[in-house]
Amino acid sequence: MKPIVLQFDDILMTADAQEQLHSAALVQFASVDEILASPDPLLDVQGLLLNLAHPVTATLLDKLPNVKVIANYGVGVDHIPLPLATERGIWVTNTPGMLDKAVADLTMGLIIAASRRMVESHQVMAANAFTGWTPMYQLGVEVSGKTLGIIGLGEIGKQVARRAAGFDMPVLYCNRKPLSPEEELRLGVSYRNFEQLLAESDIVSIHTPLTPETRGLFNAVTIARMKRGAILINTSRGALIQEAALADALKRGHLYAAGLDVFEQEPKVHPDLVGLPNVVMAAHIGSATNETRRAMGDCTVHNLLCGLKGEKPPAALNVPVMLSVKPL
Ligand code: DGY
Repeated sequence: MKPIVLQFDDILMTADAQEQLHSAALVQFASVDEILASPDPLLDVQGLLLNLAHPVTATLLDKLPNVKVIANYGVGVDHIPLPLATERGIWVTNTPGMLDKAVADLTMGLIIAASRRMVESHQVMAANAFTGWTPMYQLGVEVSGKTLGIIGLGEIGKQVARRAAGFDMPVLYCNRKPLSPEEELRLGVSYRNFEQLLAESDIVSIHTPLTPETRGLFNAVTIARMKRGAILINTSRGALIQEAALADALKRGHLYAAGLDVFEQEPKVHPDLVGLPNVVMAAHIGSATNETRRAMGDCTVHNLLCGLKGEKPPAALNVPVMLSVKPL
């Protein structure tokens, strides 16, 4: 009998991946609520194909005692309790390398839109309210040559650094572990600690995962350490920023603008941010291109199928304990 995989949303994937998935597993669509409402544990379920919109909890896993693999469609896994999955013998996988370019592209888009007031400008044109070119109308700030500070120089951050080079931007970064001098040279980036980076950057872009340590990393205190007139960009996770503090800094003009693709209480936006002219917002679309989402689908399925077979998935984020006692 084929193992049952619960899928939580429709996703893009190639026909090949689709074929492999359906020949190896019986895929059923499910929701967290349905699983939790089940009076009995779902003993035949061995795999979960889910994403950031479906948080995994201990209670959910209690209903799924034979799950071997949670294949996450996306790179961030702050919605999955990794230590618990590890303890319960469950592989957790993500989609590294699939969305770096798409997210970096959007980051540059937000940098330009926030610096050059593109949304305000669009709104004037959409309302047919443009009264004609004047020398002082809708002045923004130049992007070229500005110092960009990258928080978290992983693969997405590196793609942002490469794009920033095309805008002649000096790039600073802070990381738990600095890169080797050779790699710094190759990417044209310089290490700074967090405080130094905030003090020196004209634009700060966040590319670090959400963890208990990074939650609320940008708050009233740290935002105050940013340069007056700086711009804050976030395409990582909303809860890295305390939005009330950000809105306050934007209103007071301490920050010139912000570009946000992710939100603290997603999908809700903090009421103080709504309507601010100097915030540019997108609806968590960093990886939302056909090409990237299809590549993410293939990667997720490949990881899922490896986990179901009892093989180590290529993008495993943990080494589950007690795998040997689980039936293959
Ligand atoms: C991720 O991969 O974590 C993004 O936020 C969604 O693509």
